[in-house]
Amino acid sequence: MQTINSIKEMQTFSNREMGEGKTIALVPTMGFFHPGHLSLMEEGRRRGDFLVVSIFVNPTQFGAGEDYEDYPRDMERDQKLAEETGVDVIFTPPVDEMYPSDYQTCVNVEEVTRNLCGISRPAHFRGVTTVVCKLFSIVKPSFAIFGEKDFQQLVAIRQMVSDLNIDVKIVGMPIYREEDGLALSSRNKYLTPDERKAALCLFRSLMRAKELFRQGERKTEEILSEVMSIIKAEQLAEIDYVKICDVKTLKDIEQINQETVLALAAKIGKTRLIDNIILNPSDCI
Ligand code: PAF
Repeated sequence: MQTINSIKEMQTFSNREMGEGKTIALVPTMGFFHPGHLSLMEEGRRRGDFLVVSIFVNPTQFGAGEDYEDYPRDMERDQKLAEETGVDVIFTPPVDEMYPSDYQTCVNVEEVTRNLCGISRPAHFRGVTTVVCKLFSIVKPSFAIFGEKDFQQLVAIRQMVSDLNIDVKIVGMPIYREEDGLALSSRNKYLTPDERKAALCLFRSLMRAKELFRQGERKTEEILSEVMSIIKAEQLAEIDYVKICDVKTLKDIEQINQETVLALAAKIGKTRLIDNIILNPSDCI
C-alpha cells in the first residue's frame, strides 16, 4: 500500500493507471476508520482494479463551533486497517494544497440540501460537494463508494454528479450497525458509557416506525409523533429533526405513497448523531 500526500503525485498515479486501461474505485473518508468504512473499502475492492481511500478532514464542511479541531484522527491505525483491507493507495492531501489562500470555487447543490441537516448546518453540504468534486477531479475514479447513513450527502453527491456530468458511478452501501443497532460513526467515540446507552433510543425509535409502517400506518404525522416520543423519553437526547421525505427530492411528505426516508438527527449529550431507515410501500406488498 502506498501513501500519497500530494495532489500532483495522486494525479500522476491516476493518469498512469487509467492510461493502462485500469479502473479506480475511490472511498472518500475523513479517517478514524470503523467497520462501516471497511465495508465501503471492501465494496471498492470488488469494483475497481485499484482502490484509493482518501483521508481528509475537510474544514469547509464544519460550521463555526462544530468539531473540526476535535474530530478524531489516528493516521497510523487507519493505515494499518486500510492495508489489511487491501487498499492500494491512501491519499491524504494537506489542507493548504486543497484550499490554497487564493481558493475561490465551490459546488452548491441547491434543492436537496435545503431540508434535514441543511437547516441546522447551512454550509455543510456545500463543503461536502466541493471537496468530493475536487477529489473526483484529482483521483478520477470510475466508482465512488459512500455510506447510506449520510443519506442526504449521498443524494446531494448523486445530484452533483448528474448535474455536472461527472463520469463516475456512485455506489451507496447499507448502514453498518453495532449488534444492538447503533449506527457506526466516528463521532460515537465522543459518547460516554451512559450516552452510548442513551443513543440506542434512536434505533429503537426507527424500529418502532418500521413496525407501524408494516402494520399499515401511512400518515407521517402518526409515525413521527411515536418516533419523537421515544427519543424525548430519553433524558440525554435532544432532537434536531425527525422527518419523512421523498428519497429523491428530500422534500417532506404527509402520506407515504412512494419510497421515503425517515431521517433523524439528535444530540446525545454534546454529540450530534444522525440515522435513517427507508419506508417503501412496495416492500409491504
Ligand atoms: O462522509 C464523509 O466522511 C465526508 O463527508 C466526505 C464524503 C469524506 C467528504 O469530506
